[in-house]
Amino acid sequence: MIDFTLTENQLAVRDMAREVAAKVVAPNIAEFDRAQKINPEIIPAMVKANLLGFCIPEQYGGLGMDYISLGLASEEMEYADTAARVILSVHIGLFSLPVLTWANEGQKQKYLIPAAKGEKLATFGLTEPAAGSDAVGIQTTAVKQGDKYILNGEKMWISLADMADYFLIFAWTDLDKKKARDHSGMSAFIVEKAFAGVTTGSIHGKLGVRSGNTGWISMQDVEVPAENLVYKEGQGFKIAMFCLDQGRYTVAAGSCGLIRACRDACINYSKERQTFGQPIADHQLVKQMIANMEAGYEYCTPLWMKAGLLKNQGLRSTKATSLAKWIACREAEASAANAVQVFGAYGFSDEYPVERFYRNAKGASIYEGTREIHTVMQADYVLGNRFDKQLERDLPKVEQ
Ligand code: CAA
Repeated sequence: MIDFTLTENQLAVRDMAREVAAKVVAPNIAEFDRAQKINPEIIPAMVKANLLGFCIPEQYGGLGMDYISLGLASEEMEYADTAARVILSVHIGLFSLPVLTWANEGQKQKYLIPAAKGEKLATFGLTEPAAGSDAVGIQTTAVKQGDKYILNGEKMWISLADMADYFLIFAWTDLDKKKARDHSGMSAFIVEKAFAGVTTGSIHGKLGVRSGNTGWISMQDVEVPAENLVYKEGQGFKIAMFCLDQGRYTVAAGSCGLIRACRDACINYSKERQTFGQPIADHQLVKQMIANMEAGYEYCTPLWMKAGLLKNQGLRSTKATSLAKWIACREAEASAANAVQVFGAYGFSDEYPVERFYRNAKGASIYEGTREIHTVMQADYVLGNRFDKQLERDLPKVEQ
């Protein structure tokens, strides 16, 4: 029997995230989304509320909270806007938790502590212009020269690319293995934006997540100290997959926030809007759409929580996380499409938030593993083609 009762600490994190989302993110979201800019008050407010490091141990500048709390905070942030949740996904899920798990003590002191305290912002760089789902298809190289690696390559579609101070970058250190597409030739590095040869930029004209920063990172003959290699040469692919286990988890929980936002917007609107002499909430086909949102929320929540409970116990959660991410994103897309339908012509305009929900929901079925990648993964698990074997390292076990 899985116990999903929330502890006082978990409720406290949820309430803190809910407050930041309601007071700082929600009030001006339409304006920032239209302007395609991030609200400059969001990250300082998250730092003030300790939301950038709460599930990192206290010895590394965090609050030592558990991973269910990370899911709860993700849900609350995405209830207000997807871009706000993405900050947690990349800064904590794709950078800080992997650094906590895989980096050495010196790297944790130098990079994890400032990230957990929110003094520095961090993200992850795997995807490239010609390599998204096909992670082994990346072209970035890291050639060892004495006590440095020389990095060359381009990363694209990177959340917070143009804002972060630190990047967890994946590159080939074995060029023969690169040609052979053998993942054991890939390595991970912590790269600072301040290193010479690193340039970044923002991508505009996105369908959704417009109030978030998405961009590119270019590395031209960047000299990275050998001490910034994370763990060992040849472990980069596994570290990247590990990062995605944490990032995808936040996407799954965040998608539940989006489903809830769709449901709540539809409840309010359908009680006010009248057609055929009665509130549209009284029409059975509108009820059907609202009921589907409620069902989606109720069955997607335990999916991400199951993954969170495995993480809390220090157990591998790849299968559970992938399933939660795939299904919650699918339900968020369906809920947002139905929310636009419930609002009718008004849903087609940015006068109401549901068109933003619809645009934002689309991205999550693409980033952090497309729905097709997760579908194939789930089929392969049950067909006996994929197994979650014990990893060399996994998230540190935490008390709830
Ligand atoms: N953690 C640790 N190790 C893992 C792992 C995990 N979750 N998953 C796999 N591994 C290990 C395996 O155990 C295996 O090790 P051995 O060789 O020692 O046996 C090795 O990695 C290779 O594993 P697989 O055979 O399972 O790898 P695969 O080739 O089948 O993986 C894939 C294929 C599932 C399609 C994978 O490439 C994948 O998930 N692709 C999607 C990538 C993705 O999600 N990209 C989006 C990034 S999001 C982004 O960049 C945006 C942003 O904002 C930052």
